[in-house]
Amino acid sequence: MTVSTPPEFTLQEELAQLKKEKNAVILAHYYQEPEIQEVADFIGDSLELAKKAAETPADIIVFAGVHFMAETAKILNPSKKVLLPDLNAGCSLADSCPPKAFRELKKQYPDHVVVTYINCSAEIKTLSDIVCTSSNAEKVINSIPPEKPIIFAPDKNLGKYLMQKTGRKMLLWDGACIVHEAFSLDKLLELYGQHPSAKIIAHPESEDHILKVANYIGSTSGMLNFVKNTEHDTFIVATEAGILHQMQKDVPWKTLIPAPAKEDNTCACSECAFMKMNTLEKLYNCLAEETPEITLSQDLMKKALRPIERMLELS
Ligand code: 13P
Ligand code: SF4
Repeated sequence: MTVSTPPEFTLQEELAQLKKEKNAVILAHYYQEPEIQEVADFIGDSLELAKKAAETPADIIVFAGVHFMAETAKILNPSKKVLLPDLNAGCSLADSCPPKAFRELKKQYPDHVVVTYINCSAEIKTLSDIVCTSSNAEKVINSIPPEKPIIFAPDKNLGKYLMQKTGRKMLLWDGACIVHEAFSLDKLLELYGQHPSAKIIAHPESEDHILKVANYIGSTSGMLNFVKNTEHDTFIVATEAGILHQMQKDVPWKTLIPAPAKEDNTCACSECAFMKMNTLEKLYNCLAEETPEITLSQDLMKKALRPIERMLELS
């Protein structure tokens, strides 16, 4: 059933009213559509959103993001209702690490500490010793005693970057994010040729050849802070283009150019089709009807909680 709003109110006003009535909070990732970011109570990167989810007093969490993020919010709040506007909002990176195959790998390396990037399913989290995000991954790796061998999953690009940063050799799972692997080095260099004073900033889920030409590498929030806190005024941004909304709001006087994708597309950028499955209408309907809801077994949540808590304790 689709709920239609009375014509005299905007969807945004109706949503605000519903939120109050139901004591709900809307958490949104920076990759969401601008109109969703505008109605959110809190916008953040994966780590900030996990922290917010852990401390919210709201009864209902509407997660405007993708499935693994909403799952993490549910694991941190087993007794609360966690809603995701579109249950099909998945993640290529999370999908690249199926639990059965990951269990097999773990069995072959029983002495390894398992570090997983938060972009994985709840079941993979139950197989992890500690979770990390792109904001705290270096800290997490450095917290593991140097003599302990590490399995890092599922993102091979972030894993390679972390091996270079920390000097730790790790066994990497062969997973990747389609959005961050979509950037074209040739087109990026051509664009840079047209803006030689620009600083190239990149997310560590990007491929090695993109990271090699970047002036700054960091998580979504790291990139936002870099753009805000440096004196440079032109940036080529190699991450999902949704971040440009908040970035431009933070520094309206600076020039922000999305890094181009290999494919010739209309936005000349890289967008996450999963993140963009959520719309304002779906967000409204999901809170009105309190569905689709994230449901996980108590046992799964209990097992997946420990590695997330370990990460939060370190952050
Ligand atoms: P962060 O929010 O940790 O920067 O991760 C980016 C991402 O790809 C989320 O899906
Ligand atoms: Fe997954 Fe990549 Fe989309 Fe993030 S941007 S949700 S890692 S597919």
